[in-house]
Amino acid sequence: MTKLAPSILSADFTRLGDQLRAAEEGGADWIHVDVMDGAFVPNITLGPLVVEACRRTTSLPLDVHLMIERPERYLEDFVRAGASILTVHAEATVHLHRAVTRVRELGARAGVVLNPGTSLEALRPVLEDANVVLIMSVNPGFGGQRFIPQSLERVRTVRRWLDELGSGAELEVDGGVNAGNARSLVEAGATVLVAGSAVYNAHPVADNLAALRRAAQG
Ligand code: DX5
Ligand code: ZN
Repeated sequence: MTKLAPSILSADFTRLGDQLRAAEEGGADWIHVDVMDGAFVPNITLGPLVVEACRRTTSLPLDVHLMIERPERYLEDFVRAGASILTVHAEATVHLHRAVTRVRELGARAGVVLNPGTSLEALRPVLEDANVVLIMSVNPGFGGQRFIPQSLERVRTVRRWLDELGSGAELEVDGGVNAGNARSLVEAGATVLVAGSAVYNAHPVADNLAALRRAAQG
């Protein structure tokens, strides 16, 4: 079954614990945590301290999406803070293979992510080592942006590559995901859907997750 990963970027941070519990009770599979450094992306969000607070609040896997320059500097800190999946941008490091390998050595699952404007070929050298492949369907930096339609074809291509390899890696999509496009993403081969505003911008959270789940199942 398709996994749902609510992004806390759109949550109310004055009551983060409640918002995490609402996601968990609403049937979320992972919690997606967006780390931004004001350099790789224009926005600044949170660091290991907040990941560690999430870790104490939920038992769900923490899916930590690093939108930071040279992520290799912080891999250990985020794994120590409780990241279950640690995902690095191919554009953010000249040592992508080393970063992916290091995440696995540290005992977390390794993800690799591409911006919408990056050739899928950047994935090839690390595809066999990745536990998660994340396709950005918006330009990263902010929640609430519109889904870029060309992302669907990119998901289809990566699905084919993973199947050819016999890889069991998760294929995740992030950005502008909602009940209107969830089904087409699943049909294209996505196994994990990230959703921020579609989960947290209206209430109750459990209803939004249920609507997303229904849509994903078709
Ligand atoms: C964007 C982040 C996303 C964001 C998605 O840079 O990586 O995870 O929270 O938010 P929505 O679902 O609102 O596009
Ligand atoms: Zn994200």
